Amino acid sequence: MVNSDPALAALFLKQFAWCKVVGGESVAVLTEPESRETYAEAAQAAASALGARPFRIVLPSHAGEVGAIAAINRGNASSTILDDLPEVTGVLSAVDFIVDLTLDGLIHSKQRAAIQKGGARVLLVREPPDALARLLPTAERTARIARAAERLGRAKTMTVTSAAGTNLRVDLAGAAVRGSPGFCDKPGSSATWAIGAVLVYPPSAEIEGDVVLAPGDIVYPFYRYVDRPVTLRFKGGFVAEIEGDGVDAELMRDYFARWGDPNAYGISHVGWGLHERALWDALAFYPKGEAAGVDGRCFAGNFLISTGPNYAANRHTACHFDLPMRHCTVALDGEPVVETGRLVDRP
Ligand SMILES: [Fe+2]
Repeated sequence: MVNSDPALAALFLKQFAWCKVVGGESVAVLTEPESRETYAEAAQAAASALGARPFRIVLPSHAGEVGAIAAINRGNASSTILDDLPEVTGVLSAVDFIVDLTLDGLIHSKQRAAIQKGGARVLLVREPPDALARLLPTAERTARIARAAERLGRAKTMTVTSAAGTNLRVDLAGAAVRGSPGFCDKPGSSATWAIGAVLVYPPSAEIEGDVVLAPGDIVYPFYRYVDRPVTLRFKGGFVAEIEGDGVDAELMRDYFARWGDPNAYGISHVGWGLHERALWDALAFYPKGEAAGVDGRCFAGNFLISTGPNYAANRHTACHFDLPMRHCTVALDGEPVVETGRLVDRP
């Protein structure tokens, strides 16, 4: 029996207010045996305090056939934990608010669409308590992210350059834009607690050029800083070549190839970090497995490029890289929104 931590419950209360959890709503706290017990307790306490109706689902841990390759990569948001339990998906699609404390997260799971179609708001919680507190939403940031998403929605082309050699051109025709302010307050929406970024899923085949990962850039799901440069050559929206003579390049070539899936090499999303309190060096401090890397994925002025699942292009794969990069210049139709890793702030 874990005694609920009043400070943690107060923190969840603040976040739930952003998610507009109100009296009478049903709140499912979704866990598995290794989920943070303190979070499950705090989520239920906070939901109760708001007059909502929380209940908890404890799923059996999942290390079987389906998850065999994915299981080594915890936290890729492609949880397979519901694959054998369609009944649970049925329950989740009927509730108002889901606190996702599963180890991998449901965001890229097969069941996500069915769950959210029913109107459930899904909040993924993976970061340690100090990060949850430090990275809570603010009205100022929320407005800034909305403006960035609106600007991105109007753009036809994104170009990205860096002194390290990045020179990428992304055609944004038909792209799906998403502002991620770190909370979900609308029916059928989802969020990762602590994120603050904007991103776009481009379906176009006109994505060409080089992405050069430089020392200090981050490779998820390895949770490693790049030590030796890696060049990803994009042709027709797919990674055609991976060059580099260090361990970083070798790890990426190996992991990509392991899936035997051409979709793994397709572009997933591109965007930039807008969270002024997220820390590039957080990865150097948190023990592996303690945090899902939200800091690295959204620190202000990063350029985040990702490969793998792309809903706008109707491509599905469980191989997913998130590659936050520093010191890049990101321009929309020729107008910089990030200049050498710094946000360009326009009114
Ligand atoms: Fe991603």
